[in-house]
Amino acid sequence: MKTWTATRIRQAKGKQKLACLAAYDCTTARMIDEAGIPLILVGDSLGMTVLGYDTTIPVTMEQMLHHTTAVVRGVKNALVIADMPFLSYQTSIEAGITNAGRLLKEAGADAVKIEGGAFRADLVGALTANGIPVVGHIGLTPQSIRELGGYKVQGRTQPAADRLLTDAKTLTDAGVFALVLECLPTPLAAEITAAVSVPTIGIGAGPGCDGQVLVSHDMLGMNDQFQPRFVKRYADLAPQMRAAFAAFAKEVADGSFPGPEHGYDAGG
Ligand code: KIV
Repeated sequence: MKTWTATRIRQAKGKQKLACLAAYDCTTARMIDEAGIPLILVGDSLGMTVLGYDTTIPVTMEQMLHHTTAVVRGVKNALVIADMPFLSYQTSIEAGITNAGRLLKEAGADAVKIEGGAFRADLVGALTANGIPVVGHIGLTPQSIRELGGYKVQGRTQPAADRLLTDAKTLTDAGVFALVLECLPTPLAAEITAAVSVPTIGIGAGPGCDGQVLVSHDMLGMNDQFQPRFVKRYADLAPQMRAAFAAFAKEVADGSFPGPEHGYDAGG
């Protein structure tokens, strides 16, 4: 059994702040796990960070299965949460159970994450009743970006804030073991955190949440064209990667790579 289970994450509420990073490959997941981070999310953000789409909407089940499998191979202790991609759970509860089940059964995920508020309560109940741990995701829900009209902070009017509070409570009652709060005003995220019995994991939701999630590519500075306000860069890899690629190209061109130390003798 892993160190981190859905039960232990739920029990961490009020005792320990939880770190979570989104990752999509085995090597990165292994390093995150070695750093002692308890939660790794195979986010459908892979559509943008890895696959080059503009949104998460085109991401498929096959792509999520492929990347989740890779992440799972690198992880010993962290809980691996797989995002359910757009249209893998919206059409029916049966589709949701089948697709969530595939992420656990075929890819080895420990839990799934679904976007949406109180209207997802029946699905959350059905998944947990069938042994599938679920993380909820409210606030800015990128799969609904066409309907939301852009990547905007949510819950800034009183009715919207009230709705999000109700969503959080309803999803908690339905059985989620954690709740992602994306792009909410800091006071609202703190209010929701105080109102629910499961850990809230914030992204662009301020310090009042029980945990924080970032996308590994963003916090490593791998895409220097993208820096929303909520991202803190813990490294600045893009310029270093460009410099390394340019140095390699130059050394191949001028013949200084490979050197004698990179070759093999005839043996014998
Ligand atoms: O897809 C993702 O990486 C996410 C996080 C930003 C929470 O959903």
